[in-house]
Amino acid sequence: MNVILFLGCPSGTVITDKSISAVLGMDVTLPCYYHIEADEKVAQVSWVKKETDGQNTDIAILNIEYGTIVFGAYSGRVKEKSPLDSEDGGIVLKNAVQADEGTYQCRVNTFPAGNFDAELQLKVLVPPLPTLSPGPTLTEGDGKTLAASCTAEGNPAPSLAWDTEVDGINQTQRYQHPRSASVTSDFYVVPSRRMNGKALSCVVSHPGFQQEKRITHVLDVRYLAGVSIQGYEESWFVGKEAATLKCICEGNPPAVYKWSRTNSSLPEGIKTGGDTLQFLRPLEAEDAGVYICQSTNDIASRQGMVTISISGMNLTC
Ligand SMILES: *[C@@H]1O[C@H](CO)[C@@H](O)[C@H](O)[C@H]1NC(C)=O
Repeated sequence: MNVILFLGCPSGTVITDKSISAVLGMDVTLPCYYHIEADEKVAQVSWVKKETDGQNTDIAILNIEYGTIVFGAYSGRVKEKSPLDSEDGGIVLKNAVQADEGTYQCRVNTFPAGNFDAELQLKVLVPPLPTLSPGPTLTEGDGKTLAASCTAEGNPAPSLAWDTEVDGINQTQRYQHPRSASVTSDFYVVPSRRMNGKALSCVVSHPGFQQEKRITHVLDVRYLAGVSIQGYEESWFVGKEAATLKCICEGNPPAVYKWSRTNSSLPEGIKTGGDTLQFLRPLEAEDAGVYICQSTNDIASRQGMVTISISGMNLTC
């Protein structure tokens, strides 16, 4: 500790912080300095906790001559901050718990000037363990739906924010409990395919955190887009090789495709697989017709069609 702090302190002043914070489970130093004048000596420093009923609970006595005694419930939880020298009477309280909150007093016993007291308030910060739970399945076409719900409880109250590029609204509730406070925030969206795969993050800040905590949920929106068929350029002719149609239909989950032809069955000599229909032989005049791609997923089924006409043998070839 910087000695310059004590320059100009009058004799008989005990220096401590009025209020300090510990993080649950961490060690905390309760400071207590005494500025000694020449010819003055500190004989001992004693620590008590001032209980709400007016009683004092003994914590420890740091004696220059006889060493340190730690009392009762504090045994094993308290040690002197540094080897006791005549100015620093601070103690380290190990593994802070919520019951440690309260008022502490250090009493510095000096010779010949007598006793000097100082008090400090200890607050124990309980950092939250936030959780994020996704809402029900999101389906395009449904109205306002819960996308995710984020909850954090701590002491003091955590603060919560949503970070996302997705449009939505939140409903946030705060609750006060005897030794903590909790915040729950629900994030609602009107599901659309543009939201599928987008991140929705709950960002929780708290004085007990070194840095904010972020829990991310990736939105899964079910939808089925319209169907389009590619590959036919209105220049198909008898004898054309490797003619291929491709069915395009985005969906989540991905669509499965089924090909057919109106008024007749699919011709022989083609292969269908997934989104493509492929002629394995040169085109013939009978291959003309209206081809249909039926695409289906959990949400819906849609179809697209293409009318294929096939011109006579291209004699210029
Ligand atoms: C909820 O929405 C309101 C209004 O847009 C905003 O002020 C607030 O910060 C939001 N709260 C959270 C937790 O995102």
